[in-house]
Amino acid sequence: MLTHSAPSSTAIAGKLTRASRVHRWDVDVHFDWPDAIPETAWCTSPELVSIHGTPLWSRLDEAQQRKVALYEAANFFSLTLQGERSLVSGMSELLYSSRLSGDVTEYLHHFLDEENKHMAMFGAFCTRYIGKVYPEKKVVIPRRRAKGEAEIALFCKVMVVEEVGDYFNVLMQRDARLHPVVREIHAMHHRDEARHIGFGRAQTRELWARYATAWSDAERGRFQDWLGDYVRSTWGDFYNPSVYRDAGLADAPWSVDPYALRREAMAHPDAVATRVRASRRVVDHFVRSGFLREPPTL
Ligand SMILES: [Fe+2]
Ligand SMILES: [Fe+2]
Repeated sequence: MLTHSAPSSTAIAGKLTRASRVHRWDVDVHFDWPDAIPETAWCTSPELVSIHGTPLWSRLDEAQQRKVALYEAANFFSLTLQGERSLVSGMSELLYSSRLSGDVTEYLHHFLDEENKHMAMFGAFCTRYIGKVYPEKKVVIPRRRAKGEAEIALFCKVMVVEEVGDYFNVLMQRDARLHPVVREIHAMHHRDEARHIGFGRAQTRELWARYATAWSDAERGRFQDWLGDYVRSTWGDFYNPSVYRDAGLADAPWSVDPYALRREAMAHPDAVATRVRASRRVVDHFVRSGFLREPPTL
C-alpha cells in the first residue's frame, strides 16, 4: 500500500542528481582492460553459475568450471545490457513530456547517461573476452493497455532488471576469487544502481497511485498476471543453452544436450533458492504496492 510518508520522485530526484554529479565517472578511462582473462581466473562465483549443483557440474574439472564461469559472466552482462537497451529507449521517450517534473527530467539525463556507460562497460567485456554480446530472447507481444499502463510496465521492467542484477553485483563485487576487472564491473554497476533503484521505487509507487487506482479489477488483474509472467521469464534467460555450447559442454567428453542441461539446471533446488533470494526485494516491493497479488512461483 502507498504510505503517505514515502518521498515523491520529484523530492528525491534533486538529491539523486547531486549524487550522480559527485560520482560521475568516465567509462573510457576507468577500466584497464587486460588483453585476455587468464584461464586460472574465475569470472562468476562458482555457486552462482547456473548449472552449479547439477551432477555435470561436479564432474567438470576446475579449468572447465572456470571456462563455464567466463561464458556465464558474459551472459549475465549481456542480459543486463539488453535490459538496459530497451529501458533507455523507453525512458528517452519520456524526456520533456508534461508527465514529468523538471527535477525528474533532469535526473533522467543522469540515469540515461549512467545506463549508457553500463552498456559500454558490459559490451566491452563481452566483445573482448568472448567475441560477442548474447542477443535478447524476449518476444514482446503487443496487447491492449489501460491508461498509464505502458509507463508503469516500463518502470516495473526497469526495477526487475536492476534489483535482480544488483543481487549479483553485491555478491560478486566482494568475491576475492574473481578476476579484478570482473569485480570492478560489478562494483561500478552497484554504485550507480543504488540510486536508480531508489528512484524506480518512488516512480512506480507514484505512477500506480496516479493511474492504476482508476483501472477496473479486470485491468488490474491483467497487469498483475503480466508482471508475474515477466519476472518468471526474466529468469529463463539466466539459463542459456548457447552459454553451455560456447563453453564446450556439447562436445566430447561432456557431450550434453544444452537444452536438457538448461531444464535440469532450472529445476535444481539450489537454482530455485537463488531465484527466490535474488527476486525477494523487488517481489516484496511489488506485492506491498499491489502490483502483484502474491509472489510468483519461480
Ligand atoms: Fe545499469
Ligand atoms: Fe540502472
